[in-house]
Amino acid sequence: MLPSGALNLRELEELAREKLSPMAYAYYASGALEEVTLRENVAAWARLPLHYRVLVDVSERDLSTTVLGAPVSMPILVAPTAFHKLACEAGELATARAAAAEGTVMCLSSLSNTRVEDVCAATAGPAAGRPPVWFQLYVYRDRAATAALVARAEAAGAGAIVLTVDAPVLGRRERDVRNEFHLPDGLRVENMSAVSDLGDVSLRSSASSLAAYFAEKLDPSLSWKDVAWLRSVTRLPVAVKGIVRPDDARRAVDHGAAAVIVSNHGGRQLDGSPATATVLGPIADAVRGRIEVLVDGGVRRGADVLRALSLGARAVLIGRPILWGLATGGEDGARAVLSTFRFELDQAMTLAGCPSVVDATRDLVG
Ligand SMILES: Cc1cc2nc3c(=O)[nH]c(=O)nc-3n(C[C@H](O)[C@H](O)[C@H](O)COP(=O)(O)O)c2cc1C
Repeated sequence: MLPSGALNLRELEELAREKLSPMAYAYYASGALEEVTLRENVAAWARLPLHYRVLVDVSERDLSTTVLGAPVSMPILVAPTAFHKLACEAGELATARAAAAEGTVMCLSSLSNTRVEDVCAATAGPAAGRPPVWFQLYVYRDRAATAALVARAEAAGAGAIVLTVDAPVLGRRERDVRNEFHLPDGLRVENMSAVSDLGDVSLRSSASSLAAYFAEKLDPSLSWKDVAWLRSVTRLPVAVKGIVRPDDARRAVDHGAAAVIVSNHGGRQLDGSPATATVLGPIADAVRGRIEVLVDGGVRRGADVLRALSLGARAVLIGRPILWGLATGGEDGARAVLSTFRFELDQAMTLAGCPSVVDATRDLVG
């Protein structure tokens, strides 16, 4: 059951909006510029008809799968989103516990309010028979600090590094500019708080302080050769997040990535970039099973997950709905969001004649 009797994620977002400060709600909800891509991400899934099969025995269903070799109870993962302590006091610990309890992977953002060591310890990961935490990486201009962060994530037990490649600068989110977005006193980028001022996103700009942080600290010269650099500093599999083109997906294969995540950052970077539902199929075709393809952006219903699997995704990642769960019910709220997705996917698979995830083949979406 979702918090406060919400029936679906749209209703939950309304409840979250009432709980959050206007600045935090806008930071979570917003997209870049006209927010065209933000809206299209959701709309494009809904436009894909599901050509269901009939008279298939669906009395038992199996939603489980694996991602990068790790067993998960369902093909629904938690996307990396920054600053969970804007939503609830326990922040990323609540998210990690919720994901572990639901048997799935949480991808922790570089920009978390909780250290990667503490998040990995909160779930105990594979050692406790639970899926690992993955670590999302932003590459700083300070490469030594970046490599040290990767080493910490690996030592803490993270199962993969997710390299975000769609943010050489922060997309302009006008709601954040208007609100002069910054972290309230006491909240920091904890992973970097030991390194000079890399932990500080407090008010320092009359626009978005996060945009200023990105411009100053993160490395806009990042290029394909840095995938090799990253692979040279970690033994963990590297997933490249932020791909919307088949040729870039092929480059990721050529550069040794273990997975690509088809993503436009939830419509927060280049406004006008394609909805992920429209590019997933061609990207999966280009990669042809050589590496895993994951997708995020606008997944709001179990049927969207089924559509994504049918187009060739191994799993989806969920961004904002998890934040709405945290804001309205902390760990239990985030867990309820995941179990709502599980319930809806199970029902969609039942109605579509798909007893297991491998039955979600391309013909389902026409
Ligand atoms: C509030 C917020 C913060 C985010 N922070 C990060 C981040 O730190 N790193 C990253 O790679 N992606 C980040 N993203 C993008 C998400 O990982 C994901 O691509 C996107 O939210 C998926 O779309 P959805 O929110 O429509 O599910 C963020 C998204 C939101 C909404």
